[in-house]
Amino acid sequence: MTGRQPRGPFPCSELDVELTINGKPTTVDAPADMPLLWALRDVVGLTGTKFGCGIAQCGACTVHVNGTPTRSCSVTVGAVQGRAVTTIEGLAKEGADHAVQQAWAELNVPQCGYCQAGQVMSAAAFIEKNSNPTDAQIDAAMQGNLCRCGTYVRIRAAIKRAAEIHRGATA
Ligand code: FES
Ligand code: FES
Repeated sequence: MTGRQPRGPFPCSELDVELTINGKPTTVDAPADMPLLWALRDVVGLTGTKFGCGIAQCGACTVHVNGTPTRSCSVTVGAVQGRAVTTIEGLAKEGADHAVQQAWAELNVPQCGYCQAGQVMSAAAFIEKNSNPTDAQIDAAMQGNLCRCGTYVRIRAAIKRAAEIHRGATA
């Protein structure tokens, strides 16, 4: 994490928050008002999800909560009690990369890589809803995920490729 992250102590007392993380029932020993991103990274040890802006503006911290892409910097761990959280570490199923991960590797999408976990999580949720997207639909769906390296053209191509792989897998 960078130096801009807020630091504890958080005002609420410690609480065992029960949720499912990457398919596994998990008890998180953290204050209920701790941002989910902090809980994932610092308490659970899942550091694939990244801190960027901390104010829901960059998308670097995107995870899925019950399948919906969610900025984990801006939701508390207490707010997702009882829900299913998926992080980049849990996207591959039974050792098989997700269609988005396959396409990302095929098209060499990342540059520095910092934004990419969030990009992949947003893209994975998007192709579940739209398995044959246009450029405009991709741009609209991904506009909240920023990339300082400017990999947007490769991201768009990879989402089209991922959708193709996904269609093949679900046909
Ligand atoms: S760190 Fe959460 S949106 Fe930027
Ligand atoms: S690949 Fe570097 S910020 Fe996106």
